[in-house]
Amino acid sequence: MDLAEIPVAELGEADAAAELARLAELMQAADRAYYLADDPEISDADYDALRRRNLAIEARFPDLKRVDSPTDTIGVKPVETFNKVQHAKPMLSLDNAFSETDMVDFVQRVRRFLGLDESASVALTAEPKIDGLALSLTYQAGRLIRAATRGDGKIGEDVTANARTIATIPAQLQGEDWPERIEIRGEIYMSQEDFAALNARETEAGRKIYANPRNAAAGSLRQLDASITKARQLSFFAYAWGETSRDFANSQYAAVQAFKRWGFAVNPHFTRHETLAALLAVYQDILARRSGLGYDIDGVVYKVDRLDWQERLGFVSRAPRWAIAYKFPAEQAITRLEAIDIQVGRTGTLTPVARLKPITVGGVVVSNASLHNEDEIARKDVRVGDQVLIQRAGDVIPQILGVVDADRADRAAPYMMPQTCPECGSPAVRERDEKGSEDVRRRCTGGLTCPAQSIERLKHFVSRQAFDIEGLGAKQIELFYEKGVVTAPQHIFQLEARIAAARLSPLAEWEGFGAQSATKLHEAITARRRISFARFLIALGIRHIGQTMAETLARSYLSWQGFYTALAQASQSEEGRLCVLEDLLAIDGVGDRAAHALINFFHNQQNRDMLTELLAEIQIEDAVKPQENHVFSGKTLVFTGGLEKMSRDEAKARATRLGAKVSSSVSSKTDYVIAGVGGGSKLKKAESLGITRLSEADWLAMLDA
Ligand code: IVH
Repeated sequence: MDLAEIPVAELGEADAAAELARLAELMQAADRAYYLADDPEISDADYDALRRRNLAIEARFPDLKRVDSPTDTIGVKPVETFNKVQHAKPMLSLDNAFSETDMVDFVQRVRRFLGLDESASVALTAEPKIDGLALSLTYQAGRLIRAATRGDGKIGEDVTANARTIATIPAQLQGEDWPERIEIRGEIYMSQEDFAALNARETEAGRKIYANPRNAAAGSLRQLDASITKARQLSFFAYAWGETSRDFANSQYAAVQAFKRWGFAVNPHFTRHETLAALLAVYQDILARRSGLGYDIDGVVYKVDRLDWQERLGFVSRAPRWAIAYKFPAEQAITRLEAIDIQVGRTGTLTPVARLKPITVGGVVVSNASLHNEDEIARKDVRVGDQVLIQRAGDVIPQILGVVDADRADRAAPYMMPQTCPECGSPAVRERDEKGSEDVRRRCTGGLTCPAQSIERLKHFVSRQAFDIEGLGAKQIELFYEKGVVTAPQHIFQLEARIAAARLSPLAEWEGFGAQSATKLHEAITARRRISFARFLIALGIRHIGQTMAETLARSYLSWQGFYTALAQASQSEEGRLCVLEDLLAIDGVGDRAAHALINFFHNQQNRDMLTELLAEIQIEDAVKPQENHVFSGKTLVFTGGLEKMSRDEAKARATRLGAKVSSSVSSKTDYVIAGVGGGSKLKKAESLGITRLSEADWLAMLDA
């Protein structure tokens, strides 16, 4: 059977790892298509389906989660809560060239299409291809009236309020020669410096960082709260236009000069050339300047200068015949591997990390790279002291492609993975599965006696999908652990008392805290003394129990007390154990590994002691039983288009709470299609299958019925 078709609950560990690799690759390609090429290859629904499968696998096999897990990349999914905007003229994408030959062919094609002589000169403009996201700005009587993202090229999102906060977007056009109505197009981007500062602030606040400036720009623009967009430094280069009430230039070059007069920032490296030799030289020139520009670019865009020619050339499918993007090769560099350090994760996995001699790759200083595991190191035969080829493909974490000086005489010995945990000295082993095949990961057997595992578990405990305590992130956990005030989860809820008992000064006097943030932190902790059953289970960080599994268990047991009592029984006798095991395995979605992991966790005396103390501090809310007597109970719903009164996520959550199933695609099993603004192909399909269509108003009315 095709890997893609195996239900998550039935995947073995090896298959799960392969499937995570496949999903990561697919989703990265889709992200690239969406954000880099701005040319989505797959529908939002299909993307969502991949994302959900990825999440479900990670939930079942938390230890298999990849360093480049798509779950951790931010800002990749378009939010559903902005109003949809139809573009008057479609926002196109660009064809790519990858070599000088491709460029020669491009110019030839243009000549042939226009019926020009072989020797006729075709002037082209050249400018950097900015690695950001396209934005459309409509001006009426010189005033900005609307800003919209590209979306799928036909329908984008209305981000007017956010665009108004961006300094390089004029609210009022300067000069007077602008058309009454004109739509200016260009690229929103974040400089590398602002990106680094933003990520530093995010780290400080204990939040997730953005993978690259493009994601950061997209995430910052798509904020429902425009004041957040304002606080992020975004910039804009104008380079194209859509609908206009009259012509305002006869060449691309003149048009860009006009943008400049009207108050827009235009790229300073925008030039115009008559010969192929000059066009190819400008590519090399921009490539050479790349790392000094201060913002990410990924190629050079060439456009036929004469607008009457652009008009005649028109476009094929979604790209103009009159423009092309000559892409840069992936950014690579060679540097020295200075050391291989071992990081110990929450479940004890030892991950080798390459410490590199710092080197600038495309404007970003790289000093670390993941080496994944010892088999990977052996396969590439990477040794300390080697010159290694590294590649940064848009993401922060670079890859090591291989060794470039492997035939050196004085090479170090092959890398040996430590057999004991570097943090606690316990043996580190590679486990074998039932079939006897060895795990690629080596794991510390120290459990909670290992400080690295304890810290990572604490970080997981307060993370977003678990206790989600505002102001308590990785940095604070490390500090509290180091001071000895928080070394186990329950200590978080005893923070003030433990600080006092350790004879430390009150938190408000600690460096980096202050009265206000100390109060806020105490309040945030208090606010989380009530927690849902599922979140609590996630927080415990039991192997193989991620979000999906925790939710499944909570829905099945409903009360924490019932669940806890059952699992305590498992520790009492062999008979009890078998009985609980059977109950667990009867739950749809719970497999052997998860069931055993649960039983083992609750069997462990250390864990039980910890729970006793922790449960004295907090209250666990029972899960709500899905309602069964509602019109939507047991029905399959499909949402399409944007809803105005609630986000898609909220709508899905409400439907699920009523016992409905929400599916991403329409089939004969669908009971209702709820159509928001801009729903397309799904509606047609629903119509052809005779499925009941509900408007947003119908949906809301029936929800409350
Ligand atoms: S021109 C009809 N110029 O690249 C041509 N696009 O791959 C419209 N991009 O959606 C685009 N820098 O987001 C143009 N100097 C530049 C660009 C640029 C970046 C982006 C833009 C577009 C995508 C197409």
